[in-house]
Amino acid sequence: KNVPSSFPKNFLWGGATAANQVEGAWNIDGKGISTAEVVKRATSRKNFTFNEVTKKSLEEAIEDTSTITYPKRRGIDFYHHYEEDIRLFAEMGFKAYRLSIAWARIFPNGDENEPNEKGLVFYDHVFEVCKKYGIEPVVTISHYEMPLGLTLKSNGWETRETIDEFTKLTKVLFERYKGQVKYWLTFNEINAAVWGFSGTGALDEGLPVAQKMQLRYQALHHQFIASALAVLQCHEIDPEAKIGSMLARMQTYPKTPAPSDVRAAQLQDQLNLFFTDVQVRGEYPRYMNRYFHDNGIELEFVTGDEETLKQGKVDFLSFSYYMSTVTSDDEDITKVTGNFALGEANPYLESSEWGWQIDPIGLRITLNELWDRYQVPLFIVENGLGAIDELTADKKIHDDYRIDYLRKHIVEMKEAIKDGVELMGYTSWGPIDLISASTSEMSKRYGFIYVDQDDEGNGSLERIRKDSFYWFKEVIASNGEKL
Ligand code: BG6
Repeated sequence: KNVPSSFPKNFLWGGATAANQVEGAWNIDGKGISTAEVVKRATSRKNFTFNEVTKKSLEEAIEDTSTITYPKRRGIDFYHHYEEDIRLFAEMGFKAYRLSIAWARIFPNGDENEPNEKGLVFYDHVFEVCKKYGIEPVVTISHYEMPLGLTLKSNGWETRETIDEFTKLTKVLFERYKGQVKYWLTFNEINAAVWGFSGTGALDEGLPVAQKMQLRYQALHHQFIASALAVLQCHEIDPEAKIGSMLARMQTYPKTPAPSDVRAAQLQDQLNLFFTDVQVRGEYPRYMNRYFHDNGIELEFVTGDEETLKQGKVDFLSFSYYMSTVTSDDEDITKVTGNFALGEANPYLESSEWGWQIDPIGLRITLNELWDRYQVPLFIVENGLGAIDELTADKKIHDDYRIDYLRKHIVEMKEAIKDGVELMGYTSWGPIDLISASTSEMSKRYGFIYVDQDDEGNGSLERIRKDSFYWFKEVIASNGEKL
C-alpha cells in the first residue's frame, strides 16, 4: 500500500484572522459593540489569560470610547484595507483565508429581527475579493465575541435564548453566502467557554469556583446545541458546504513516567478532547459524568438536546496548535480552570517571549491522536509564533525565528501525513500582524506582513512584507517541498 509522500494536491495553505483582531471600524456602518471590545489591554506579557470583565469594568467600557484602552476596537483597520490585505495573501499564493464574522456587524444588538445590510455587504466584498484571487474563504461564525447587547440582556451564553439568536444569525449567513463559502466553523476554540467571559459572553465575577464552572459548562452546553443546529441548517441550506468544529488543542505530557502522572495527563487530555468528543461523535463522553459529579456540576438538558447533538455532528475537525503542556499528579489544576496552559515547564522545550512552549513534534503526536480517535478530516486552522519584530532602517523585517518555528511545524505535519493522517489544510495564525487575543497587544506579532502600528495605536498602518512572506510563498508554490 502507498505511503503518501507529501501534501495532497488540493491542500489548503493559507492564514487565519478573527474579525475583532483585524477589522476595526467598531462603531460605523451600523455595527454594534461586541464583547471583545470591552476587554482592556493587558499589562502583563505572560501566558494566555484574558483580562477579566466585571460589572464595573463593563460599565466603564460602555462610557469610554477609547481605542487605546480597548485595542480590538481599532484592529488593523482591515475594514478599509481588506482589498490590499487579500491581494498580499494572494501574492503569497494562499489557497484559503480563514476569517470570522463580527456578529454585531450583522445583528448590532443581537436581538433585532432584521440583519444590518451594510454589515452583510462588507462580507460580500471580502468574499468577492477572495474569489477574484481563487482563495477559498474558511469562515468562523463566532470567534471570541458576540454583540454586547446579548450579554446585557441574557448574560450571553448562560441562557438558552442565545441559541435562538445564534441560529437566526447562522440562517442569514448560510443563505446569503451559499455557494461562496464552502468551509464554515461554528465556534472558535469552543473550549474557551470554560475559561470565562471571552468564551461565554457571560459575567461570572465573584461566584465561588464551583458555581463559576457550573455556569461556564452550562453556557458551553448551549454552544454545543447552537453549533449542532448550525450544522443541520448548513447542510440543509447548502449541501455542498462543509462545517467543522474548532478546538484549542492542548497536547498533554506526564511530568514523569510515574503511573499517577500518566493518569493525570490522561485526564487532562480527556478534558481537552471532551469538546470534540461531543461535536464529532455527537454525544457527551462518559468520563465527563464523573468529572461533573466530582465538581458539583449539573447540566440542564431539555428534551431533544441529545438528539440534536447526535444529528448535528461536524464534517471535519479543525484546531489551533501553539504548544504542549506538562501535567503531574501533584496539582489539582483541572478542577479550577478546565484545561488551559497551566502545566509546568517542559525542560526539553524552548519558549516564546510570552512563555508559550514550542513543540513541533507535539503537533505530529496530536495529529495522530486526533485522527486515531475520530477518523474525520483534520484542519490546522491556527499555528504560529507571537514575537517582537524589529523594523530595520531600510524597512525590512528579518524574522528568521518565525520561519524556523513554522518550518519545524510543517515538517511534522508532513510526517503525520505520511503516518496516514488525513489533513485538509494549514492556515497559520495572523498572516498579517494583528491585535493579540489574550493581551490585546500589537507588539505580539505573528504575521508574514508587518503592520506599522504600535500598542497605543500610533503608526501609518502601512503593510510591509517580512522575510517570512517570501519564504511562505515558496512553501506554498512548492506545495510544502521547499521548506
Ligand atoms: C488563539 C485564538 O487561541 O490564539 C486567536 O483563536 C489568538 O484569536 C491566537 O490570537 C494567539 O493568541 P494571542 O493571545 O497571542 O493573540
